[in-house]
Amino acid sequence: MLAELVCFEQKCRARFPIEQMIYNCPKCGGLLEAGFREQHVEADSLKKIWRERRTCNQPLDQSGVWRYRELLPFDGHHHEAVSLREGNTPLLDSRRAAEYGGLDHITFKHQGFNPTGSFKDNGMTCGVTQAVRLGRKRVACVSTGNTSASMAAYASAAGLDSIVFLPHGNISYGKLAQALEYGARTLQVEANFDQILALVRELADRLGIYLLNSINPFRIEGQKSIIFEMLDQRDWNPPDWIVLPGGNLGNTSAFGKALRELRDFGFIRKMPRLAVIQAEGAAPFYDFMRTGGEFRSVTEPRTLATAIRIGDPVSWPKALQEVTVSAGVVEKVSEQEIADAKAIIGQSGIGCEPASAATLAGIRKLTRAGIIQPADDVIAVLTGNVLKDPDYIYRYHTGELKDPDGRAIQPHFGNRPTVVPNDADAIAKILEK
Ligand code: F0G
Repeated sequence: MLAELVCFEQKCRARFPIEQMIYNCPKCGGLLEAGFREQHVEADSLKKIWRERRTCNQPLDQSGVWRYRELLPFDGHHHEAVSLREGNTPLLDSRRAAEYGGLDHITFKHQGFNPTGSFKDNGMTCGVTQAVRLGRKRVACVSTGNTSASMAAYASAAGLDSIVFLPHGNISYGKLAQALEYGARTLQVEANFDQILALVRELADRLGIYLLNSINPFRIEGQKSIIFEMLDQRDWNPPDWIVLPGGNLGNTSAFGKALRELRDFGFIRKMPRLAVIQAEGAAPFYDFMRTGGEFRSVTEPRTLATAIRIGDPVSWPKALQEVTVSAGVVEKVSEQEIADAKAIIGQSGIGCEPASAATLAGIRKLTRAGIIQPADDVIAVLTGNVLKDPDYIYRYHTGELKDPDGRAIQPHFGNRPTVVPNDADAIAKILEK
C-alpha cells in the first residue's frame, strides 16, 4: 500500500512524503507515524499468503518482519530490504511461571531469539532499510544497549557506517560487546540516556546522519510485526492481555498501532488489553497514568534493568493513546520483584534479561490486585536474551546483587555454584546429599 508520514497529533495530522528525512512534524513538532493512503486490505487472502510464505526459501519470506510486508510502508522498495532473518520468535509456555504469576496458563513471546538477541531487530531491519532508501551513508542512535547492538549489526550488513552513543558505565557488557563486534563507532558519554538523546538529535541534524532511535517511525513500523507474527502463530485468536516492559515506550506504540491496524483491516475482532510494566525507579509513564495532569519526566532514572533506565520517554503520547484505546493498564515493579521473576523465567528453561522479567513481576502484581484474572489468556513479551546481562545473573545467584541504593537483593530463587576439590569421592559425597 502507498504510505506517507503523518503527524501523530490529532489537531495537526499534517502529511509528508514517505521519503522526507524528518523525525518530528515540521509544522507542530509532534511525533510522526506512517499512514497508508489506500485503506483496502483483503484480510483473509493475506492470512493465507503470509502462512504460505513461512514455507518459502526466499529471504524476504523467511524474515518474520518482511513476510508481513503488505502492512509495512515500503511499497516498491522491498528489493532494498536489509534482513538478517529477524523475527520468527517462538511462543513458549511455562507452568512454573504461570503459577508464580497467579495464572492458570501463561505464554511468552520470546524476542530474545532474534539475530542480535532482542526485539530491536524487528524494528531495525526497517529503520536501516529506510536509511538505504534515503541514500544515507551514516546512521546513529543513543541506546541503553540493545538498539545499538541491533543498529550496529544491520548497518554493517548494509555496508553503512554506524555511530552508537551509550551512557558510560550503565549498559551491560554483553550489549557493549555486540556494538564493538559488529563494527560500530562507539562513543560512551558521561550522561544518561535522556541527556544523550538531546545531544544526538542535534548532531544528527548538523552532520546529516540518519537517526535510528524509536522516534524514527520506520522502527515502530517494523516492531508492529511482533504482533502480526504473534497473532499469525495463534491462528488470529487474540489473547486477553499482552504484557510488555516500558522504557522509551516505542514498543508500546508499535504494539498498539499493530493491533488497531489488524482490527481496522478485519484480521481480528477483539483488541487485547496492553499492560505496560515499568521499573519503580524509572516509572514516569506509570506516575502520569496514575495521577494525570502534566507528563513529568524522572530526572535521574535508576534501575538495574538498564534497558529500561529511561526517565523521559519520547513516545509517551503515542503510548497514552494505545493504552487508552486497548483499555490497558500501567504497573510498576521493584528491583527485588524483577530479580525474582527473572529467576523463575530462568527456572522454566526460558531465561531473559532483567527488563523482560518486569513482565512476569507485573503480572504477579496485577493478578494479586484482581486486574488480571487467573483464567485470562496472557502473553508476556520477553524483549531480550538471557545472555545480554550475565553479570546480573551471577550476582543474583550468589547473593551479591544490590539495588541502585546499595540494598541487597535477596536471592529467593538463587542457585549458587559450588567449588569442589578434584576428588571423585568428595564430589560423590556432595552429590549424594
Ligand atoms: N526491553 C529491552 C530488553 C529493551 O532493550 C528496551 C529498550 C525495552 C524493553 C523498552 O522498550 O523503549 O520500546 O519501551 N531499549 C532501548 C535501547 C531503549 O536503547 O536498547 P521501549
